[in-house]
Amino acid sequence: MRIVVSGAAGFIGSHFCDRALGEGHTVVALDNFLTGSQRNLEHLIGRSGFSFTRQDITEPFNVAGTVDCVVNMASPASPKDYLEHPIETLDVGSLGTRNMLELALTKKARFLVTSTSECYGDPMVHPQVETYWGNVNPVGPRSCYDESKRFAEAITMAYHRKHGLRTNIARIFNTYGPRMKLDDGRVVPAFLDQALHSKPMTVFGTGSQTRSFCYVSDLVDGLYRLMQSDERYPVNLGNPREMTILEFAEHIRAMTGAKSEIVYEPLPEDDPKQRRPDISKAKSVLGWEPRVPLEDGLRETVAYFQGLSASAA
Ligand SMILES: NC(=O)c1ccc[n+]([C@@H]2O[C@H](COP(=O)([O-])OP(=O)(O)OC[C@H]3O[C@@H](n4cnc5c(N)ncnc54)[C@H](O)[C@@H]3O)[C@@H](O)[C@H]2O)c1
Repeated sequence: MRIVVSGAAGFIGSHFCDRALGEGHTVVALDNFLTGSQRNLEHLIGRSGFSFTRQDITEPFNVAGTVDCVVNMASPASPKDYLEHPIETLDVGSLGTRNMLELALTKKARFLVTSTSECYGDPMVHPQVETYWGNVNPVGPRSCYDESKRFAEAITMAYHRKHGLRTNIARIFNTYGPRMKLDDGRVVPAFLDQALHSKPMTVFGTGSQTRSFCYVSDLVDGLYRLMQSDERYPVNLGNPREMTILEFAEHIRAMTGAKSEIVYEPLPEDDPKQRRPDISKAKSVLGWEPRVPLEDGLRETVAYFQGLSASAA
Protein backbone atom coordinates (compact mmCIF):
# COMPACT_ATOMS: atom_id res chain seq x y z
CA MET A 1 0.00 0.00 0.00
CA ARG A 2 1.01 3.63 -0.46
CA ILE A 3 0.20 5.35 2.83
CA VAL A 4 0.12 9.11 3.49
CA VAL A 5 0.89 9.85 7.15
CA SER A 6 0.38 13.33 8.64
CA GLY A 7 2.12 14.11 11.91
CA ALA A 8 4.88 11.74 10.78
CA ALA A 9 7.65 13.64 12.60
CA GLY A 10 5.85 13.24 15.91
CA PHE A 11 6.31 10.65 18.60
CA ILE A 12 3.65 8.13 17.49
CA GLY A 13 3.74 9.12 13.80
CA SER A 14 7.43 8.28 13.44
CA HIS A 15 6.93 4.84 15.02
CA PHE A 16 3.95 4.26 12.74
CA CYS A 17 6.15 5.08 9.71
CA ASP A 18 8.73 2.53 10.96
CA ARG A 19 6.04 -0.13 11.25
CA ALA A 20 4.46 0.60 7.86
CA LEU A 21 7.84 0.53 6.09
CA GLY A 22 8.75 -2.64 7.96
CA GLU A 23 5.58 -4.26 6.61
CA GLY A 24 6.70 -3.38 3.07
CA HIS A 25 4.44 -0.37 2.45
CA THR A 26 5.43 2.94 0.87
CA VAL A 27 5.12 5.98 3.15
CA VAL A 28 4.53 9.57 2.13
CA ALA A 29 5.19 11.51 5.34
CA LEU A 30 3.83 15.02 6.03
CA ASP A 31 4.56 17.33 8.95
CA ASN A 32 5.02 21.04 9.65
CA PHE A 33 7.22 20.45 12.75
CA LEU A 34 4.84 22.39 15.01
CA THR A 35 5.51 19.92 17.83
CA GLY A 36 7.43 17.18 16.04
CA SER A 37 11.09 16.95 15.22
CA GLN A 38 13.23 16.20 12.19
CA ARG A 39 15.32 13.97 14.44
CA ASN A 40 12.43 11.49 14.72
CA LEU A 41 12.65 10.82 10.96
CA GLU A 42 16.41 11.12 10.42
CA HIS A 43 16.86 7.34 10.34
CA LEU A 44 14.31 7.07 7.50
CA ILE A 45 15.67 9.74 5.17
CA GLY A 46 17.00 8.04 2.05
CA ARG A 47 15.32 4.75 2.87
CA SER A 48 13.58 3.14 -0.10
CA GLY A 49 9.80 3.60 0.03
CA PHE A 50 9.97 6.67 2.27
CA SER A 51 9.51 10.31 1.33
CA PHE A 52 8.93 13.41 3.42
CA THR A 53 7.27 16.74 2.60
CA ARG A 54 7.14 19.68 4.98
CA GLN A 55 3.44 20.51 4.87
CA ASP A 56 0.96 22.24 7.12
CA ILE A 57 -2.14 20.13 6.51
CA THR A 58 -4.46 23.01 7.37
CA GLU A 59 -3.30 24.63 4.08
CA PRO A 60 -4.50 23.25 0.73
CA PHE A 61 -2.15 20.56 -0.65
CA ASN A 62 -2.02 17.64 -3.01
CA VAL A 63 -0.15 14.36 -3.08
CA ALA A 64 0.83 13.17 -6.54
CA GLY A 65 0.19 9.58 -7.58
CA THR A 66 -2.00 6.86 -6.15
CA VAL A 67 -2.76 6.64 -2.44
CA ASP A 68 -4.28 3.60 -0.76
CA CYS A 69 -4.50 4.83 2.78
CA VAL A 70 -4.51 8.20 4.58
CA VAL A 71 -3.48 8.23 8.24
CA ASN A 72 -4.19 11.53 10.00
CA MET A 73 -2.10 11.88 13.16
CA ALA A 74 -1.20 15.56 12.97
CA SER A 75 -2.10 17.46 16.14
CA PRO A 76 -0.36 18.82 19.19
CA ALA A 77 -0.98 16.10 21.78
CA SER A 78 0.54 17.05 25.12
CA PRO A 79 -1.29 19.54 27.35
CA LYS A 80 1.75 21.81 27.31
CA ASP A 81 1.74 21.85 23.50
CA TYR A 82 -1.97 22.36 22.95
CA LEU A 83 -2.25 25.02 25.66
CA GLU A 84 0.58 26.87 23.89
CA HIS A 85 -1.04 26.38 20.44
CA PRO A 86 -4.81 26.36 21.06
CA ILE A 87 -5.81 27.87 17.68
CA GLU A 88 -3.45 25.63 15.68
CA THR A 89 -4.87 22.65 17.61
CA LEU A 90 -8.45 23.53 16.70
CA ASP A 91 -7.40 24.22 13.09
CA VAL A 92 -5.58 20.94 12.61
CA GLY A 93 -8.46 18.89 14.04
CA SER A 94 -11.00 20.70 11.84
CA LEU A 95 -9.43 22.14 8.65
CA GLY A 96 -6.54 19.68 8.70
CA THR A 97 -8.75 16.63 9.17
CA ARG A 98 -11.06 17.87 6.43
CA ASN A 99 -8.13 18.27 4.00
CA MET A 100 -6.92 14.75 4.81
CA LEU A 101 -10.45 13.37 4.33
CA GLU A 102 -10.69 15.15 0.95
CA LEU A 103 -7.37 13.59 -0.03
CA ALA A 104 -8.70 10.13 0.86
CA LEU A 105 -11.92 10.80 -1.05
CA THR A 106 -10.13 12.04 -4.18
CA LYS A 107 -7.71 9.12 -4.14
CA LYS A 108 -10.40 6.54 -3.25
CA ALA A 109 -8.22 5.64 -0.28
CA ARG A 110 -9.14 4.47 3.19
CA PHE A 111 -8.75 6.86 6.12
CA LEU A 112 -7.73 6.57 9.77
CA VAL A 113 -7.78 9.38 12.33
CA THR A 114 -6.07 9.32 15.72
CA SER A 115 -8.52 10.63 18.29
CA THR A 116 -8.04 10.54 22.03
CA SER A 117 -9.33 9.44 25.40
CA GLU A 118 -9.72 13.20 26.05
CA CYS A 119 -13.01 12.85 24.14
CA TYR A 120 -14.31 11.36 27.41
CA GLY A 121 -13.25 14.48 29.34
CA ASP A 122 -13.36 13.97 33.11
CA PRO A 123 -15.28 10.71 32.78
CA MET A 124 -18.32 9.72 34.85
CA VAL A 125 -18.05 6.14 33.57
CA HIS A 126 -15.08 4.01 34.55
CA PRO A 127 -13.35 2.30 32.83
CA GLN A 128 -14.15 4.24 29.66
CA VAL A 129 -16.07 2.33 27.04
CA GLU A 130 -16.56 3.60 23.47
CA THR A 131 -20.32 3.98 23.89
CA TYR A 132 -19.80 6.56 26.67
CA TRP A 133 -20.26 10.08 25.23
CA GLY A 134 -18.03 11.82 27.73
CA ASN A 135 -17.98 14.72 30.16
CA VAL A 136 -16.10 17.50 28.38
CA ASN A 137 -16.01 21.14 29.44
CA PRO A 138 -16.49 22.87 26.05
CA VAL A 139 -15.04 26.20 27.23
CA GLY A 140 -12.29 25.05 29.61
CA PRO A 141 -8.58 25.41 28.81
CA ARG A 142 -8.36 21.84 27.47
CA SER A 143 -11.38 22.28 25.20
CA CYS A 144 -9.13 23.34 22.28
CA TYR A 145 -7.86 19.76 22.17
CA ASP A 146 -10.92 17.82 23.32
CA GLU A 147 -13.35 19.59 21.00
CA SER A 148 -10.90 19.54 18.11
CA LYS A 149 -10.76 15.76 18.41
CA ARG A 150 -14.52 15.42 18.88
CA PHE A 151 -14.98 17.48 15.70
CA ALA A 152 -12.42 15.28 13.91
CA GLU A 153 -14.43 12.20 14.87
CA ALA A 154 -17.69 13.85 13.77
CA ILE A 155 -16.41 14.93 10.36
CA THR A 156 -14.85 11.51 9.82
CA MET A 157 -18.24 9.87 10.44
CA ALA A 158 -19.89 12.45 8.15
CA TYR A 159 -17.52 11.55 5.28
CA HIS A 160 -18.21 7.90 5.92
CA ARG A 161 -21.99 8.39 5.96
CA LYS A 162 -22.18 10.89 3.12
CA HIS A 163 -19.50 9.49 0.78
CA GLY A 164 -19.11 5.87 1.90
CA LEU A 165 -15.44 6.53 2.75
CA ARG A 166 -13.81 3.61 4.55
CA THR A 167 -12.86 5.25 7.82
CA ASN A 168 -11.43 4.23 11.19
CA ILE A 169 -11.28 6.19 14.44
CA ALA A 170 -8.70 5.29 17.11
CA ARG A 171 -9.24 6.69 20.61
CA ILE A 172 -5.72 6.60 21.99
CA PHE A 173 -5.03 6.55 25.73
CA ASN A 174 -1.72 7.69 27.32
CA THR A 175 1.13 6.26 25.30
CA TYR A 176 4.83 6.45 26.10
CA GLY A 177 8.17 5.38 24.68
CA PRO A 178 11.29 6.57 22.89
CA ARG A 179 11.00 9.84 20.87
CA MET A 180 8.68 11.53 23.33
CA LYS A 181 9.92 15.03 24.04
CA LEU A 182 11.59 15.30 27.42
CA ASP A 183 10.04 18.72 28.02
CA ASP A 184 6.51 18.15 26.67
CA GLY A 185 4.94 18.17 30.13
CA ARG A 186 3.49 14.64 29.89
CA VAL A 187 3.91 12.60 33.02
CA VAL A 188 6.26 9.89 31.69
CA PRO A 189 9.00 12.19 30.31
CA ALA A 190 8.48 14.64 33.19
CA PHE A 191 9.06 11.98 35.87
CA LEU A 192 11.93 10.39 33.96
CA ASP A 193 13.65 13.74 33.43
CA GLN A 194 13.28 14.55 37.12
CA ALA A 195 14.40 11.10 38.29
CA LEU A 196 17.36 10.85 35.92
CA HIS A 197 18.60 14.31 36.91
CA SER A 198 17.93 13.87 40.67
CA LYS A 199 15.40 16.70 40.62
CA PRO A 200 12.27 16.68 42.83
CA MET A 201 9.43 14.73 41.20
CA THR A 202 6.32 16.88 40.75
CA VAL A 203 2.99 15.24 41.55
CA PHE A 204 -0.16 17.27 40.91
CA GLY A 205 -2.91 17.22 43.55
CA THR A 206 -2.55 14.34 45.97
CA GLY A 207 -1.42 11.99 43.21
CA SER A 208 -4.53 9.85 43.69
CA GLN A 209 -5.71 10.49 40.10
CA THR A 210 -5.18 7.41 37.96
CA ARG A 211 -3.67 6.84 34.52
CA SER A 212 -2.77 3.82 32.43
CA PHE A 213 0.24 3.75 30.14
CA CYS A 214 0.60 1.94 26.83
CA TYR A 215 3.98 1.28 25.23
CA VAL A 216 4.28 2.79 21.77
CA SER A 217 4.94 -0.48 19.87
CA ASP A 218 1.71 -1.94 21.30
CA LEU A 219 -0.22 1.18 20.34
CA VAL A 220 1.17 1.19 16.81
CA ASP A 221 0.23 -2.47 16.44
CA GLY A 222 -3.34 -1.55 17.39
CA LEU A 223 -3.39 1.30 14.87
CA TYR A 224 -2.00 -0.97 12.17
CA ARG A 225 -4.70 -3.57 12.80
CA LEU A 226 -7.45 -0.94 12.98
CA MET A 227 -6.31 0.57 9.67
CA GLN A 228 -7.08 -2.75 8.00
CA SER A 229 -10.39 -3.37 9.73
CA ASP A 230 -13.96 -2.53 8.71
CA GLU A 231 -14.81 -1.03 12.11
CA ARG A 232 -16.21 2.48 11.50
CA TYR A 233 -16.98 3.53 15.08
CA PRO A 234 -14.27 4.55 17.56
CA VAL A 235 -12.05 1.90 19.10
CA ASN A 236 -10.15 2.48 22.36
CA LEU A 237 -6.44 1.67 22.19
CA GLY A 238 -4.55 1.79 25.45
CA ASN A 239 -3.26 -0.28 28.31
CA PRO A 240 -5.86 -1.17 30.95
CA ARG A 241 -3.27 -1.51 33.74
CA GLU A 242 -4.24 1.43 35.93
CA MET A 243 -2.22 3.08 38.69
CA THR A 244 -2.30 6.27 40.68
CA ILE A 245 0.13 8.99 39.68
CA LEU A 246 1.80 8.68 43.07
CA GLU A 247 2.31 4.92 42.60
CA PHE A 248 3.71 5.65 39.17
CA ALA A 249 6.16 8.25 40.55
CA GLU A 250 7.32 5.76 43.17
CA HIS A 251 7.68 3.06 40.54
CA ILE A 252 9.93 5.29 38.40
CA ARG A 253 11.94 6.34 41.44
CA ALA A 254 12.58 2.71 42.39
CA MET A 255 13.35 1.69 38.80
CA THR A 256 15.88 4.46 38.18
CA GLY A 257 17.34 4.31 41.69
CA ALA A 258 16.71 8.07 41.97
CA LYS A 259 16.90 9.79 45.33
CA SER A 260 14.42 12.51 44.21
CA GLU A 261 11.87 13.68 46.76
CA ILE A 262 8.23 13.90 45.69
CA VAL A 263 6.76 17.42 45.73
CA TYR A 264 3.08 18.31 45.35
CA GLU A 265 1.61 21.08 43.20
CA PRO A 266 -2.02 22.13 42.61
CA LEU A 267 -4.04 20.02 40.18
CA PRO A 268 -4.43 21.67 36.73
CA GLU A 269 -7.97 22.78 35.79
CA ASP A 270 -10.18 19.98 34.36
CA ASP A 271 -7.51 17.35 34.99
CA PRO A 272 -9.29 13.97 34.69
CA LYS A 273 -9.46 12.06 37.99
CA GLN A 274 -9.33 8.64 36.44
CA ARG A 275 -8.40 7.13 33.13
CA ARG A 276 -8.51 3.51 32.06
CA PRO A 277 -9.60 2.15 28.72
CA ASP A 278 -12.09 -0.65 28.39
CA ILE A 279 -10.41 -2.51 25.53
CA SER A 280 -13.00 -5.29 25.08
CA LYS A 281 -13.88 -3.93 21.64
CA ALA A 282 -10.25 -3.83 20.44
CA LYS A 283 -9.82 -7.38 21.73
CA SER A 284 -12.87 -8.74 19.94
CA VAL A 285 -12.74 -6.67 16.71
CA LEU A 286 -8.96 -6.45 16.20
CA GLY A 287 -7.67 -9.37 18.28
CA TRP A 288 -5.47 -6.74 19.95
CA GLU A 289 -4.25 -6.18 23.47
CA PRO A 290 -1.04 -4.66 24.83
CA ARG A 291 1.83 -7.09 25.34
CA VAL A 292 4.75 -5.00 26.61
CA PRO A 293 4.94 -4.91 30.44
CA LEU A 294 5.38 -1.44 31.96
CA GLU A 295 8.80 -2.39 33.36
CA ASP A 296 10.11 -3.37 29.88
CA GLY A 297 8.64 -0.32 28.18
CA LEU A 298 10.06 2.01 30.80
CA ARG A 299 13.50 0.38 30.48
CA GLU A 300 13.51 1.15 26.72
CA THR A 301 12.32 4.69 27.35
CA VAL A 302 14.91 5.33 30.07
CA ALA A 303 17.65 4.04 27.73
CA TYR A 304 16.43 6.45 25.03
CA PHE A 305 16.47 9.46 27.35
CA GLN A 306 19.88 8.48 28.75
CA GLY A 307 21.17 8.28 25.15
CA LEU A 308 19.85 11.78 24.49
CA SER A 309 21.59 13.16 27.59
CA ALA A 310 24.84 11.43 26.59
CA SER A 311 24.76 12.84 23.04
CA ALA A 312 23.95 16.33 24.38
CA ALA A 313 26.90 16.20 26.82
N1 LIG B 1 0.80 10.32 22.78
C1 LIG B 1 -0.35 10.05 23.35
O1 LIG B 1 -0.39 9.56 24.49
C2 LIG B 1 -1.66 10.32 22.62
C3 LIG B 1 -2.86 10.08 23.31
C4 LIG B 1 -4.06 10.32 22.65
C5 LIG B 1 -4.05 10.73 21.31
N2 LIG B 1 -2.89 10.94 20.68
C6 LIG B 1 -2.94 11.42 19.27
O2 LIG B 1 -1.97 10.77 18.48
C7 LIG B 1 -1.43 11.67 17.50
C8 LIG B 1 0.07 11.75 17.64
O3 LIG B 1 0.41 12.22 18.94
P1 LIG B 1 1.92 12.34 19.42
O4 LIG B 1 1.97 11.99 20.84
O5 LIG B 1 2.81 11.61 18.47
O6 LIG B 1 2.14 13.92 19.30
P2 LIG B 1 3.34 14.73 18.66
O7 LIG B 1 3.15 16.15 19.04
O8 LIG B 1 4.63 14.08 18.99
O9 LIG B 1 3.08 14.54 17.10
C9 LIG B 1 2.13 15.28 16.39
C10 LIG B 1 2.75 15.71 15.07
O10 LIG B 1 1.78 16.47 14.31
C11 LIG B 1 2.47 17.54 13.68
N3 LIG B 1 1.52 18.60 13.33
C12 LIG B 1 0.79 19.35 14.18
N4 LIG B 1 0.02 20.22 13.48
C13 LIG B 1 0.28 19.99 12.17
C14 LIG B 1 -0.19 20.56 10.96
N5 LIG B 1 -1.07 21.56 10.95
N6 LIG B 1 0.28 20.07 9.79
C15 LIG B 1 1.19 19.05 9.78
N7 LIG B 1 1.67 18.48 10.89
C16 LIG B 1 1.22 18.95 12.07
C17 LIG B 1 3.51 17.97 14.72
O11 LIG B 1 4.56 18.73 14.19
C18 LIG B 1 3.97 16.61 15.25
O12 LIG B 1 5.06 16.10 14.52
C19 LIG B 1 -2.15 13.02 17.73
O13 LIG B 1 -3.24 13.11 16.84
C20 LIG B 1 -2.64 12.90 19.16
O14 LIG B 1 -3.77 13.71 19.38
C21 LIG B 1 -1.69 10.76 21.30
